[in-house]
Amino acid sequence: MRTLSTGTFGPGSNPFVIDTPSATDGSEVNDLIANCQPLDENSVYCNLLQCTHFASTSAIAKANDGVYGFVSGYIVPEAPHRLFIWQVAVDEAARGHGLAKRMILDILSRPVCEDVTELHTTITPSNSASQALFSSVADSLDTKAESKLVFDRNRHLDGAHESEHLWIIGPFDNMAEELVKKAA
Ligand SMILES: CC(C)(COP(=O)(O)OP(=O)(O)OC[C@H]1O[C@@H](n2cnc3c(N)ncnc32)[C@H](O)[C@@H]1OP(=O)(O)O)[C@@H](O)C(=O)NCCC(=O)NCCS
Repeated sequence: MRTLSTGTFGPGSNPFVIDTPSATDGSEVNDLIANCQPLDENSVYCNLLQCTHFASTSAIAKANDGVYGFVSGYIVPEAPHRLFIWQVAVDEAARGHGLAKRMILDILSRPVCEDVTELHTTITPSNSASQALFSSVADSLDTKAESKLVFDRNRHLDGAHESEHLWIIGPFDNMAEELVKKAA
C-alpha cells in the first residue's frame, strides 16, 4: 500500500487535485483499478477510451506523486438527463477522506451535466463501501436512492460474478456546483 507523503487531509489541506482525465492517464488508471478489488479490471484500451471519449463525465484525482482516484461515467445516450457511474476507485492510502464523493460531485458540477437530474450505478450486494458512498451522495443531493436487481449472476453473468443491483438516485435539482464549492 502507498503512503501519502503529502500531509493531512481536510478542508484547506487536501493534497488532491480533481480534474478530467486525458489519454496519458490511461495506463496509471489501469494500475489503480487493478489494485482496487473487487473492481473488474479492464484493458488499458478501455481505460484510454474512458479517459478520452468519456473524459468530460469521468474524474481523476492526483497528488504530487501520482493518481489516487478515478471515476468513470457517461450520459446515457437514450436518457440525456441520466448520468451513469461505471466504476469508482480510490487508492487504499486515500480512502475515508471523502475523495470518491468529491469526484462524483465534481462530475455532476460540470456544464455537461447541467441537465442531469438522475444518477444510476450498479452495486453488488456485498459491496457495503460502495452502498455507503452512493447513499451519502443521495443525501448530499437531498434525494432518495432505490435499488433493484439488474444483472443476475446466473442469467446474465454466467455464474462467474456476483449479481449487480441498479441504484437509481434522484430526481434531484443539480446543485453539485454549490456542494463542490462548499467542500473545497
Ligand atoms: C468505495 C470507495 C470508492 C470509497 O472511496 P472513499 O474515498 O473512501 O469514499 P468517501 O470517503 O468519499 O466516502 C463517502 C461516504 O461513504 C462512506 N464509506 C466509504 N467507504 C466506506 C466503508 N468501507 N464502510 C462504510 N462506509 C464507507 C463514508 O463514510 C462516507 O459517508 P459520509 O459521507 O456519510 O461520511 C473505495 O473504498 C474503493 O475504491 N473501494 C474499492 C473499489 C470499489 O469497491 N469501488 C466501488 C464500486 S464501483
